[in-house]
Parts: sequence; structure tokens; C-alpha cells
Amino acid sequence: SIQVVILSGGSGTRLWPASREQYPKQLLQLAGADTMLQATATRLAGAALEIAPEVLVVSNEEYRFVIAEQLRQIGQKGRIVLEPAGRNTAPALTLAALAATAKGEDPVLLVMPADHVIRDVKAFQAAIAIGAEEAQAGSFVTFGIVPDRPETGYGYIRTGAKREGSSALELAAFVEKPDAARAAQYVASGEYLWNSGIFAFRASRWLAAIEHFKPAIAAACRAAAAGAQDDGDFIRVAQDPFLKSPSDSIDYAVMEHLAASPEIGCGVVVPLAAGWSDVGAWDALWQVSEQDAEGNATHGDVLLEDCTDSFILAESRLVAGIGLKDIVVVETPDAVMVAHRDHTQDVKKIVTRLKADG
Ligand code: GDD
Ligand code: MG
Repeated sequence: SIQVVILSGGSGTRLWPASREQYPKQLLQLAGADTMLQATATRLAGAALEIAPEVLVVSNEEYRFVIAEQLRQIGQKGRIVLEPAGRNTAPALTLAALAATAKGEDPVLLVMPADHVIRDVKAFQAAIAIGAEEAQAGSFVTFGIVPDRPETGYGYIRTGAKREGSSALELAAFVEKPDAARAAQYVASGEYLWNSGIFAFRASRWLAAIEHFKPAIAAACRAAAAGAQDDGDFIRVAQDPFLKSPSDSIDYAVMEHLAASPEIGCGVVVPLAAGWSDVGAWDALWQVSEQDAEGNATHGDVLLEDCTDSFILAESRLVAGIGLKDIVVVETPDAVMVAHRDHTQDVKKIVTRLKADG
């Protein structure tokens, strides 16, 4: 069977100054009535696949009640694995794999970030069905997006031979976050797909891979899971051993090494053409948010006069906008960010400067 695993812990720097505290983007209500988390949890609904009734969400203490409440609202059963601190996605997934195998089962884990938007759910489900079959048979499955720009924030997958009787391809190489020159070269070559950040593999396969490539992560997570308190809803792993885990992502820890380690498993990529969007910056969030007739999207206490195509998020105060066009305003208790919609990628430059200034 398939066990859905939702990763909902990180906060993107390009979404400064929000996204850290009350408003992590995955918990915001965007297009339609659902939050991104809710949309993720229900994305396989109606698919002709054998899916475990409970989703596994890996997150941190701060968001636990919001997540539980959001799942309850949509009638989705779930268990929430709580990390004492963020150690990036490789340890998060390892905790999920340990929870999924605790009763001796070995499901296919379908790993999804909580902060992506997918417009064509039917096409998504069709790709997952192909990937799940490959994963069931033991492969490490990625889902690849045809790139349209040399984005440096993504993983790049070089595709290999076509798999017999399937639209899946062999994964010939995986490069996480290449520099701009290499990214441009990859896009121009036509041989690469972006890594969507969605993965499928058997839980036991992941555990064997992390054991092999990053034994310190595996050991820390096993100790943390062994000392976990599980009340049926929340699985609170033991703090001290988990804090000893190195911090690393699924991509760097495992995916980049697979092609060179066939004894650990075979990497496969299933092309995904389903209107995928990693809502990585404010302009993307504006695009997928529900908008008024003038193209404005707002969250919180916001008043607008004669504004168009703008995105306003108010966390702690009333924000009023007058005559704005293509503007993003994000108000939080300790910082206010105002940007042109075309420049929201550059928010990370501000974050870098803030870090440098200490
Ligand atoms: N529970 C938990 N704990 N979740 C986490 C943690 C953590 O410590 N760190 C990150 N996450 C969650 C994030 O909330 C997000 O949903 C997902 O894991 C991926 O993490 P990101 O930090 O957003 O990764 P990325 O965007 O830099 O890169 C990944 O996604 C790209 C596509 O969006 C990689 O897989 C790239 O290869 C990929 O192209
Ligand atoms: Mg991301």
C-alpha cells in the first residue's frame, strides 16, 4: 500500500519576513478554500490506488495544533510526527519511515512537501500510479518537471534510458542546486528535468539508503524514534538523540549518490506535467492565491482602494493600500517588506544581508 508522508517543517527564506511564525505558507489559505497542506493531504483522493487511510505529517511543535485542526476540517485522518528541532528533510523522512514500519509493514512512502501547488490533480494521480509501481518493485522514484528557466534553487535530474513498458526513465544523475552556469547548461541541453521534490520508495529502501550514505542520521533517528511518546495523534520523538542528527536534505544525503551506487537501488524519474508550482516566492504565492476582481490577494486585516494585481499580508496590524499596482506588502510584528512583484526573488538578498549583519 501507499503511505502518504507530508513534510511541513521548513520556512523558505524567499518568503521573508513572514513564513516563519504564524504564517508558514503551507498553512495559508490560497486558491480555493483549502490550505496548501489540506490540498496536499487530499491530492490522491479518488485515485485508483491502495492508500493508507492516515497521512503522516512531519512537522514541529509550533504548528502541531494548526496542522491537526486543518486535517480535522477536511475529515482527513492523520498522525503527526513532531521534531524537537529542524534537521532538514533527510532526518524528517527517516522518522516517517521508522513510524511507517513500526508494525512490521513496508509501505511505499509517497513523500510530498506541504508547500507545492498542483493544478491538474488527474495528471498528478496518473504519474503517481506509475511511480508507485516502480517504487513497489524497489526503485527510488522522483517526479520530474520540464524546466523553463535556469532556476538554481532546484535539483536537476539527468534522464537516462526509457524503462520497459512505462513512461518512466532511468535516473542517470542528480545534481542538487547547481550554480547558475551549470543550471543554464542543463536547461539548454534538454537532458535534464527539475526535481519536483516529490518522491516514492519503499520505507525499507529509504532506511537502507540512509543507513548506507548517512549512518549518523540513521542512528540518531533510530534512537529518537525508540524513545518516542506516541499518543495516537502525535508522535513526539526523543529530543536528545534527535538533536545529535546531522542536518541534511533528501537530495544531498541520498539522491545525489544513487546513480553511483546501484547496489543501494535504482533511481527512476517519472515525468510530471500537472501544473506543478513550488510556491517559493511571494509572486508565486500571489499567483496561486484567491484574488478579487482587480487581481489583489490579501491575507489578514487589509483595506484596499484602487489597487490592482497586488499581494498584501497583514499579520499583526491593519494594512491599508491605495493606488498600488503589482506590489507585494508583507507586514509582521518585527518587519515590513514592500516589493515590486517582479523582484520578489530578490528577497533572499535581503535575508543574506541581514544574516551577514548579524
Ligand atoms: N518536517 C520537516 N523538517 N520538513 C522540512 C524540514 C525539516 O527540517 N526542512 C524542510 N522541510 C519541508 C519544507 O517545508 C518543504 O515542504 C520540503 O520539506 C522541502 O524543503 P525545502 O527547504 O523547501 O527544499 P528546497 O525547495 O530547497 O528543495 C527541494 O525541493 C525542490 C522543489 O521544490 C529539493 O528536493 C529540490 O531538489 C527540489 O527541486
Ligand atoms: Mg521548497
